[in-house]
Amino acid sequence: TFFAAMSTNPSPSSAVPAVMQRLEKGELPWGSVFSDKMLTMSWTKSAGWEPPRIVPYGPLALPPSAAVFHYAMEVFEGLKAYRNVDAGDGPVRLFRPQLNIKRLNHSARRLALPTVDENKFLNTLAAFVDEQQHWVPNIPGSSLYLRPTLIATDARIGVRRSDSALLYVIASPVASFFANKSALGAKYQKGLSLLADPKYVRAWKGGVGNCKTGGNYASSIEPTEVAKEKGHDQILWLSDEKRQLVTEVGMMNVFFVFRDAATGRRKLVTPRLDGTILDGVTRRSILELAPGMNIEAEERDISIMEVCKGVRNGKISEIFGAGTAAVVSPVHKVETPGGIVAVKQKEASGDLSVILRERLVDIHQSGEEHQWMVPV
Ligand code: COI
Repeated sequence: TFFAAMSTNPSPSSAVPAVMQRLEKGELPWGSVFSDKMLTMSWTKSAGWEPPRIVPYGPLALPPSAAVFHYAMEVFEGLKAYRNVDAGDGPVRLFRPQLNIKRLNHSARRLALPTVDENKFLNTLAAFVDEQQHWVPNIPGSSLYLRPTLIATDARIGVRRSDSALLYVIASPVASFFANKSALGAKYQKGLSLLADPKYVRAWKGGVGNCKTGGNYASSIEPTEVAKEKGHDQILWLSDEKRQLVTEVGMMNVFFVFRDAATGRRKLVTPRLDGTILDGVTRRSILELAPGMNIEAEERDISIMEVCKGVRNGKISEIFGAGTAAVVSPVHKVETPGGIVAVKQKEASGDLSVILRERLVDIHQSGEEHQWMVPV
């Protein structure tokens, strides 16, 4: 068969119905429950990639000396498998998986980890999701979040390229961040409150800001805790340049909506990919959808000064984050070095954040045929 090892019990896990019930009720904490199987692929410098395996979800056995534990030699991805909710128990499709696989390789190269054959890995991933398809929720806004993770496994603490690695994929049924019954949902509906403090810098030119590597997230935890102590939800990240550029929001890309007072015409602005910004799949999708929706979109530098002024004089009407996990998250407040600026207290139906989110959700889960949706 396709896999070196298949599960011995191909019938749907008995755990599924209870998990789906909790998901529907908004009682499942995000990313805390996993499907019963995982995909694993080992790599060695001498033999390359071993055939993929599907094995029960469970602990990995790794030596304490494994390079990943010492030098954060890890990269990961996040993508979602959706069901067509309009067709009842519809077919399972992946949202733009090719982009995640390309980015996995991009991140891997920067950390001297092995790359995968893009087509082969897409087929492997699709076969894994097909095997686990009963874990893909048939609930609007919900999906099976896939987490490919690539780690260096050499049992040696010398700082050097690893001659062995492990790529595994785990799968977590997740609700929309907007599921209105969850505490998280309420927060995202209200909009995020952000702290923009130049003391914290997420990434710099020549670094790994455009790679999805665990270290980028590890160094965000403490600043985010500080933001929470001050009553905010996340950090609005600024660059270390003199003119402090806005780079990302929390774990997401950031968008600003500029409104021309004379014409009422709106334009999307997002930081350009200068090496410090993650090339987000949702970010890219929004930029590609905009022209067809008669929305102008621009990738350019934008400083925190411009954001402050723009919000205060009404030129900026919306700020939102864009990412795979939350899709589109409105921002309602930013604390900046120049004071607190209030963006929007509540989303309204004509907001671009709402229009874009609805368009993306339609592509994800309506019956619409779309080239971005790849059947498993
Ligand atoms: C996102 O999808 O926005 C993320 O960055 C995922 C996060 C859980 C690491």
